[in-house]
Amino acid sequence: MRTLLLTPGDIETAAELIRQGELVAVPTETVYGLAANALDTAAVNKIFTAKGRPQDNPLIVHISDRRRLPELVTHIPDDAVKLMDAFWPGALTMVFGAAACVPSAVTAGLPTVAVRFPGHPVMLELIKAAGVPLAAPSGNRSGLPSPTLAGHVLDDLDGKIAAVIDGGPCEIGVESTVLDMTGGTPCILRLGGVSRADIERVMGKSVTLDTHSEKPRSPGQKYRHYAPVKPLAAVSAPIRDERGIVVICPEEQAHLYSNAIIYGQLSQPETLARGLYAALREADKTDADRIVAVCPDGEAFDAVRDRLRRAEQEHTT
Ligand code: TXA
Ligand code: MG
Repeated sequence: MRTLLLTPGDIETAAELIRQGELVAVPTETVYGLAANALDTAAVNKIFTAKGRPQDNPLIVHISDRRRLPELVTHIPDDAVKLMDAFWPGALTMVFGAAACVPSAVTAGLPTVAVRFPGHPVMLELIKAAGVPLAAPSGNRSGLPSPTLAGHVLDDLDGKIAAVIDGGPCEIGVESTVLDMTGGTPCILRLGGVSRADIERVMGKSVTLDTHSEKPRSPGQKYRHYAPVKPLAAVSAPIRDERGIVVICPEEQAHLYSNAIIYGQLSQPETLARGLYAALREADKTDADRIVAVCPDGEAFDAVRDRLRRAEQEHTT
């Protein structure tokens, strides 16, 4: 298949492909997603094939209007309403009981469904023009860093999907926060674009965190993720420079290394998330033997450190 490179002006073409059951990669404010009609099992199955994604890892359903939520879920807790008021549209995904219309290909057979109302205008226009909710995982080959540019999607999936819409770089750069709303106390299953502190502030109570449990409630958490091909070590403080390494680090530390890739500035934590995945992909293209990524401790860097730890595990387990 020839993958079409579309612009945001080509939404109608993209929407028609979605209605025909094809896959279209599309920018969101977090990362590029690989979208299909969430209510079409055959289309959803194509996502798993194109990405090489394990069948038991469920997908997030994206909507462009809160009024579509009741059709997809069995119950909307009061806490969820507060969070929607504060963070939708945005980088928060919430897990609810799944309504019968949601195909089991989307939920991977779980009784729950993850839903997000994204904020990116191109993604919103595509959902509206297609007239259906869109199932969309990150648009990378399974296991590799998520794409934050249309070119990253093509590097991984050219020839395997119908089209990619080039909407420029993603603003946030790491995936949405996934929050399970089905228990008594909401539980963060994946750290991401909305911080734990902001969620707790809005709800006026604390949430639990279950991103590393033995029996993950978010099946995606058990898989190797976000990892470059070269071995990677994540450290919290600058290291001694060495031959054969490429160091992904904040701009303030780049002078310490002969082979450095800057991924953002310490003084602006959000820039580190924004630049992380592109830096990991760039590091893979160098002739270094291994990658060292420097990410400081501290809550502002939680999502970045989480991704680096998972990328690191791929090579140590
Ligand atoms: O920012 C994002 O969330 C991006 C953009 C495209 O929206 N999407 C994304 O999707 O990162 P994906 O498939 O790469 O990650 C979805 C995560 C996985 O860890 C998956 O296991 C979890 O959400 N998930 C999906 N449905 C779930 C469910 N019903 N219960 C628990 N976890 C679920
Ligand atoms: Mg992903």
